[in-house]
Amino acid sequence: MLNGIEGKDVIELGCGTAYVSSWLARREARPIGIDNSRRQLENARRFQARHQVLFPLVHGDAEQLPFADESFDFAISEYGASIWCDPYRWIPEAVRVLRSGGELTFLVNSVILMLCVPDTEEGKAGNFFRRPYFGMHRFEWPDGPSIEFHIGHGDMIRLLRANGMEVIDLIELRPDEGSTTLFPFVDIDWARQWPTEEVWKARKR
Ligand SMILES: C[S@@+](CC[C@H](N)C(=O)[O-])C[C@H]1O[C@@H](n2cnc3c(N)ncnc32)[C@H](O)[C@@H]1O
Repeated sequence: MLNGIEGKDVIELGCGTAYVSSWLARREARPIGIDNSRRQLENARRFQARHQVLFPLVHGDAEQLPFADESFDFAISEYGASIWCDPYRWIPEAVRVLRSGGELTFLVNSVILMLCVPDTEEGKAGNFFRRPYFGMHRFEWPDGPSIEFHIGHGDMIRLLRANGMEVIDLIELRPDEGSTTLFPFVDIDWARQWPTEEVWKARKR
């Protein structure tokens, strides 16, 4: 979808600073960012003013989108709704607001990482599984506590297909040799052997 994004209606789900929408606006898309945090939206507005890239920012819940059916050509989430919302709620909503042929792209922590990363923020992913794969869904971390959602690949494929999406790709990101990382929960040797992040791409039938 990025080729030919010009003039397309885009929704960024859990936009935070909305830097992704800002990139898309610079590529002549017509993005709207939605986030349920007023503070994050204030940050996004400050960035808009500083860089003079303006587009609508909406305060709302990605699990209950305040938009009509079939309003967008492209939906994207970069560690927004894609990990902070329940996929069984946000994905049907994302599909509802997409037009037929519209695409959904989202970036998340990889499934393998979620199995290998420790509970505490100090630790890094090891080369063994710390929790079961079957049944993975809601992760409650001790800091806060904060709650994230991660489901297995089979469950994700079935969820997307049950909501009328065709999976186009699952890109498992591998850093180049010689890369460095700022991630506290994984080191670069690990990330060169197993995917730390994955990008899902799907199209509405
Ligand atoms: C990691 S941050 C933002 C990611 C964004 N790509 C960025 O770099 O700023 C995740 C965002 O998801 C938002 N969020 C969490 N739950 C949400 C929900 N139910 N609806 C909308 N936004 C949500 C948070 O407020 C936060 O701004």
